[in-house]
Amino acid sequence: MKGRPERANNVAALRLLARRRLPRPIFDYIDGGADDERSLRRNETAFADYELVPDVLNDVSAIRTGTTVFGQPSRWPLMLAPTGLTRMFHDHAELAVARAAARHGLVYGLSTMGTTRLEDLAHAFDGPKVFQIYIFKDRGLTAEFVARCREAGFHGLALTVDTPVAGNRERDRVSGLSLPPRLTWRSMLSFALHPSWSLPALTGKKFDLANVSHKIDALAGGPMSLFDYIGGQFDRSVTWRDVEWLAREWNGPLAIKGVMTPEDARRSIASGATGVMISNHGGRQLDGAPAPVDQIEAVREAVGGGPDVICDGGVRRGSDAVKAIALGATACSIGRPYLYGLAAGGEAGVDRVLTLLTEEFERTLTLAGINDVAAIARRHVRRRFN
Ligand SMILES: Cc1cc2nc3c(=O)[nH]c(=O)nc-3n(C[C@H](O)[C@H](O)[C@H](O)COP(=O)(O)O)c2cc1C
Repeated sequence: MKGRPERANNVAALRLLARRRLPRPIFDYIDGGADDERSLRRNETAFADYELVPDVLNDVSAIRTGTTVFGQPSRWPLMLAPTGLTRMFHDHAELAVARAAARHGLVYGLSTMGTTRLEDLAHAFDGPKVFQIYIFKDRGLTAEFVARCREAGFHGLALTVDTPVAGNRERDRVSGLSLPPRLTWRSMLSFALHPSWSLPALTGKKFDLANVSHKIDALAGGPMSLFDYIGGQFDRSVTWRDVEWLAREWNGPLAIKGVMTPEDARRSIASGATGVMISNHGGRQLDGAPAPVDQIEAVREAVGGGPDVICDGGVRRGSDAVKAIALGATACSIGRPYLYGLAAGGEAGVDRVLTLLTEEFERTLTLAGINDVAAIARRHVRRRFN
């Protein structure tokens, strides 16, 4: 019997529902990381190394959780990180996620590698939204995205800088979910055994890298040449000068996604960014990179009080976000948790995961005797070393 997302009590339960609903290669694409998946695991377990130290006898009858992320009001300090290929997980794709985010008052991030056109997304909902951009070999393509985002009313850009090459995702190699796909018999069987996923995937809207497909239509290529085209656009020679250029072009809220050190955070701000997303891409790129939560304090100290510092990766409980904020983050962002919700139950599944995390965040604040997100302080968290 398939489980129901509204009965799930936490992110871990939604992950199990997603695992049941998806063919194994698709689930592994979401769930997996690079190489030995050390950073993937560490991103989560690092939060357990911090204890929450509560205050008592504060009036917690009303809790204020509102903040600002990318210059936009956010009901609490969480945003939805950009994830590519979303239609692969549910045929309602990015729109389902973005609508749920807007209902919860949270900022949504759309990926360049998304399966919904940025204009269509902006048309369908008026919630706060940022676009995840790359500096491509063809700077004209990047400049085109900047112009399209401005025209469509996106509120910010997140420039991803941790993908000069694709990480080594071994689960995808084993399943054959590569480009071009080389599915094993076991993988094909898994697709056949999951008709509730496979039928909509076969009969639904065409799977497409919707934001770049116009580039290929002109060349009359098929979907593979689209992947080839975009794969060929990743540029290993990008430097800070390119960040300066992008900041000038956009002239609005801009976070550098994939920053790990205080030096690079300082450099990001000096180059014109308004914030950083401390991130190892959810453990999908450089395996062995530190957990984002462990880098927050040093990064915050380096950039001072103004810029957004977003802790991206490993958040699975609302209490994780409280810890990150106590260490100096403006907000946290999540990728897999909402994708598990989406895969488990479409928009209702995303709603469920956001409801659970919101409730956990508020309950943690209440139990910790903190009645305002602005009052979360360093003393509320303590690192344990055993
Ligand atoms: C399936 C999947 C696809 C992703 N695609 C992108 C992408 O296109 N661009 C990007 O900058 N980050 C991408 N990410 C990384 C997320 O933005 C985010 O950094 C990561 O998921 C955070 O870790 P978490 O999954 O533990 O929350 C992707 C992550 C996943 C799980």
